Amino acid sequence: MKLHVDLKRPAKTRSSMIYGHFIEHFHRQIYGGVYDPGSPLSDEDGLRTDVLDAMRKIKVPVLRWPGGCFVSSYHWKDAVGEKRTPLFDKAWRVEDPNTFGTDEYIRMCRKIGCEPYICTNAGTGTAEEMSDWVEYCNLETEGQYAKWRIANGFPKPHRVRYWSIGNENYGAWEIGAKTAQEWGHLVAESAKMIKHVDPCTELSAAALADISWNINLLKNSGQFLDWISIHGYWDSLAQNNHFADYDACMVYTNTIGDSVRKVRGLLEAMDLGHIKIAFDEWNLRGWHHPNVHTIKQGVTKEEYLYPRDKNDDNTGYTMADAVFAACFLNMCNRSCDIIGMANYAPIVNTRGCIFTHKDGIVLRSTYHVFDLYVNYLGDQVLDTWASDVPTEELRSVKGELQTVELIDAVATSFGDGPGYAIAAVNKDARHPQPLTLDMEASGKVSVSWICGESTESYNDIGHEEVTIQHEDLGLFTPGMEILLRPHSVNVIRIGTKPAQS
Ligand code: AHR
Repeated sequence: MKLHVDLKRPAKTRSSMIYGHFIEHFHRQIYGGVYDPGSPLSDEDGLRTDVLDAMRKIKVPVLRWPGGCFVSSYHWKDAVGEKRTPLFDKAWRVEDPNTFGTDEYIRMCRKIGCEPYICTNAGTGTAEEMSDWVEYCNLETEGQYAKWRIANGFPKPHRVRYWSIGNENYGAWEIGAKTAQEWGHLVAESAKMIKHVDPCTELSAAALADISWNINLLKNSGQFLDWISIHGYWDSLAQNNHFADYDACMVYTNTIGDSVRKVRGLLEAMDLGHIKIAFDEWNLRGWHHPNVHTIKQGVTKEEYLYPRDKNDDNTGYTMADAVFAACFLNMCNRSCDIIGMANYAPIVNTRGCIFTHKDGIVLRSTYHVFDLYVNYLGDQVLDTWASDVPTEELRSVKGELQTVELIDAVATSFGDGPGYAIAAVNKDARHPQPLTLDMEASGKVSVSWICGESTESYNDIGHEEVTIQHEDLGLFTPGMEILLRPHSVNVIRIGTKPAQS
């Protein structure tokens, strides 16, 4: 494949928030994940220092919390202050002690150095409860909730800028699901009250690539919204934990940009160009939680609760996950004019890129994709087009043959210095693929990549097959050809300073 990079055309600046993350009160993401007061690896606030270090290394820019389905029957007031009221979490059907609440979350974000992004309860919650939460977090001293925050030991406002109204309230599975008509009105009223509390907040609302849902939402509340929230999971594993194989995952890459294209078209048609997309839950792998939304099937904990531990099997998170994640991040870079935020779902445990166990952490294959993109790639997305793109007919998870382009590449430069960096993914399971760089550039060339020994390579406790490798390739010449290893994610750097990782 030849990548043609047109340095004469304007570049687009991508927000660092496309490398964002999500953490939910589900299984071991919070309790036993990042928050583990009993662990010798935790700090004075009960936060796992090894997890915080790993989050800081990939410069987590924004962290969405507390859900996800969890939030749609969550009441934030039960989880602040001295007295915490344990919650029976009706979404995931477990008790939540509420010992990790807003103040613990904000403290964690400050330690990571990331923006908090709070998703509110638009299921059983009200516009008033949502805006009370904004009072608690963002007002200086006015009103009872700011005074409550101060009494809880936080004299200064938390200054939470990003707020989402609801989570997937369009879905029958969601507690407090709404019709399109109900949703548009509720979002408008909630957004009005939130903006009255703090007009500096940026608001998103739960949406999907569905015209009738979004037209009602945007007609009623488009004036109040800064973001529209969409989600994507491709390998649906909620009920059956049977992972799609490598080739089927490569077929999934054909549809990575579909929902963005549809939402972009709708926003343009409705002349709502000020609204950005927050792709605030995405992962190749859907989470495994059988029988939770269809209670009649799962009457025992053996049927709906204990199987969740299967999410913790590290052997499943292979180069398929890493290659898919890189293709998704390439899409976000190419569409950075409309995608202002994306949140990997989740960051810790379940299908996340960081796995915790009692003696430490495992950095799954996808973690290294974030390391490569955050620490090696530029923030200026260059205008490119490709020729001679190799393809292969691969079988989808349903057994249908589909044509898949085998190389996915994005070229960038650096807003704060010289040089270029190209993210190039070789999806080919079996063969190296040549990439020719048609661009005017000079300087030293280096490539950093992950590929593992095979498509099935993974990392686990005491087992590390996927780590970032580096190679210097001498001086760049226009038209230089670089051989991309099979099933690999590569960042090629030209004439720039050494990577920061
Ligand atoms: O499977 C996890 C769930 O996926 C999240 O809680 C929800 O937002 C999405 O449907």
